[in-house]
Amino acid sequence: MNNINMLKENFYKIFNKTEENVFFSPGRVNLIGEHTDYNGGNVFPCALTIGTYGLVAKRNDTKVRMLSLNFEDLGIIEFDLDNIVNTKEDAWANYPKGVIKTFKDSSYEVPTGLDILFYGNIPTSSGLSSSASIELLTAVMLNDLFNLNIDMIEMVKMCQRAENSFIGVNCGIMDQFAVGMGTEGCAVLLDCNTLQYTYSKLNMDGHKIVIANTNKKRGLTDSKYNERRSQCEAALKEIKQVKNINALGELTEEQFEEVKDCITNPINVKRARHAVYENIRTLKASKALKNNDLALFGKLMNESHISLRDDYEVTGIELDTLVSLAWECNGVVGSRMTGAGFGGCTVSIVKDDCIDEFVEKVRKKYTEIIGYEPSFYIVSTSDGARKLI
Ligand code: GLA
Repeated sequence: MNNINMLKENFYKIFNKTEENVFFSPGRVNLIGEHTDYNGGNVFPCALTIGTYGLVAKRNDTKVRMLSLNFEDLGIIEFDLDNIVNTKEDAWANYPKGVIKTFKDSSYEVPTGLDILFYGNIPTSSGLSSSASIELLTAVMLNDLFNLNIDMIEMVKMCQRAENSFIGVNCGIMDQFAVGMGTEGCAVLLDCNTLQYTYSKLNMDGHKIVIANTNKKRGLTDSKYNERRSQCEAALKEIKQVKNINALGELTEEQFEEVKDCITNPINVKRARHAVYENIRTLKASKALKNNDLALFGKLMNESHISLRDDYEVTGIELDTLVSLAWECNGVVGSRMTGAGFGGCTVSIVKDDCIDEFVEKVRKKYTEIIGYEPSFYIVSTSDGARKLI
């Protein structure tokens, strides 16, 4: 049975009504441009065919009742539209709750309660943006159901706000933007300083995007993420005393080398160096793709990983092992960690007829070194969050 029929059947069982409003919101993978979004730099992600599905029906009262088939043991989460608060027990449901609250706080009318059923096929804690996916899914549902006529970029911004204020993760805008604005067959080059964006056709010339999941159980990610952000902000503050800029993403490599000595903490010099060089790498990589120079694109991906490993220090043994094993395989054009880091996934570009060998070799060696297996997904790109039927 396909996902839509399965959802419809479950919707009837759980909420005792039939429903036809079906929505989908993708996950995302970032090809290059990591930890640059909140530094006013460029990112280059694409939306994936794996994502989150949702079925929704209006109610006659102001209650919201939601269930996720991925967390069935948590049962139906229920709350009132007039009292939306983040509670630990509500776990996954805090993401859609945060979006509904943000809509209301932004003066968009949510006039009735809702029954919502969710199901996602993005592996949890994989760093492929299951959170942004359910956030944008909730946003497009509200927009459609209540004829709010909000444009996608405004919804992207509201979902980021929900994550920042309601969830408490100080993330940049990349994930929500990729999930909302993705286009099939393309990566999107987004300047996070100005929100200007262009789509680039993924000219893969007999290669595929292969994602490998470390399957590391992630701890403390959010606090380390917020720490990296503060270190970049501290570096920027010192640079601002000698140069008139608003974000690290405004600097060229040469300009950074000229001003870097004014950053007092040597760790912050490394963090800022990553932000500046990674941003320039992202621009070079998107150009390489346009010129059909996949070899250069791959080389820049590899350099990105090294910078995230040595300067930004967000990799760890699991990600480094996956990437160095990938680098040894035939047919691998480039490989790097993707997302926030500290665990999660790598992204590699692998020649079609070398994929089987790649998966087999990396799986075997990673398991020997780390002690448990990685997972692999050969992914395709998709459009952004939308109504299916
Ligand atoms: C997470 C955040 C994004 C971005 C990446 C790192 O995915 O949600 O905003 O900062 O990490 O590039």
